[in-house]
Amino acid sequence: MNEKQAQILKLKQDKDAVIMAHYYVADDIQEIADYVGDSYYLSEMATKVSEKTIVLCGVSFMGESAKLLNPDKKVLLPDASADCPMAHMATVEKIKEIRKKYKDDVAVVCYVNSTAELKANSDVCVTSSNALKVVKALPNKVIYFIPDQHLGTYISKQVPEKKFIFNDGGCPVHTMLTKADILSALEAHPGAKVLVHPECKEEVTDLADYVGSTSGIIEYATNSDAAEFIIVTELGVMYELKRRNPEKSFYAAGQHQICDDMKKVTLDKIISVLEQDDEGLIMSADFMDKANAPLKRMLELSR
Ligand code: 13P
Ligand code: SF4
Repeated sequence: MNEKQAQILKLKQDKDAVIMAHYYVADDIQEIADYVGDSYYLSEMATKVSEKTIVLCGVSFMGESAKLLNPDKKVLLPDASADCPMAHMATVEKIKEIRKKYKDDVAVVCYVNSTAELKANSDVCVTSSNALKVVKALPNKVIYFIPDQHLGTYISKQVPEKKFIFNDGGCPVHTMLTKADILSALEAHPGAKVLVHPECKEEVTDLADYVGSTSGIIEYATNSDAAEFIIVTELGVMYELKRRNPEKSFYAAGQHQICDDMKKVTLDKIISVLEQDDEGLIMSADFMDKANAPLKRMLELSR
């Protein structure tokens, strides 16, 4: 453990804080976090911890979800400018238009990688690990899936009985990956299993041995008898993959699978947000009620 990591462990005790981190943040943060996981795990754990402050090491929608689910807790973001670009790739105007056209037949299903404003105008949230279960449980025949067209497409193929309307958003990191990237990785490592995040394009998910969330990818590799894996998601997952499976080999599928926003979070910024210990994320009570309802519904439907 280095000096900065030790300083964080001391500060979090003094401040009654818990450190939560997504699998895409830097290794030195994953090493000292109390909880590391995918978006669903982080939102669920946020409702269970007893500490009065949550330091959310990830992008802003993750901090917002933790706050919406726990209005009484203080939620600190080490870098408030760390933001998922896809979170802004849908509009309230378009949601209203779709609602006007399809009335009660439609459910607006909002991937958690979205702003609190989009959540406040949606019926239910989903993450990559529970989207299929949640969508199947909805009574509505029409699904307006925002903001990620690729996750939406992947889910729609497994629920042919519902009509899906897609939105044109997508993750810049995952959509960069192509069929040619996977084929060339397979040529270099024949026989390796291809593990893909559902934010990837259909031409990529079509080539997968497994499609799932960051946690799903890590679990699959850990439980598999195979020895080699091509990893088709952001490379932060390599830390946990190698930690749990030191005897297995993991290869990146593309040239640059790095989310720059996730990497904005650093040990120095965690120290400074804990030292400052200001009031953290603030949202109005009315707005929080509206944005929290679809998140709570997600937790209910995915249990
Ligand atoms: P997971 O929910 O699979 O961790 O994904 C979050 C994310 O931002 C993927 O790009
Ligand atoms: Fe957003 Fe993509 Fe980064 Fe995930 S990897 S936080 S979807 S930009």
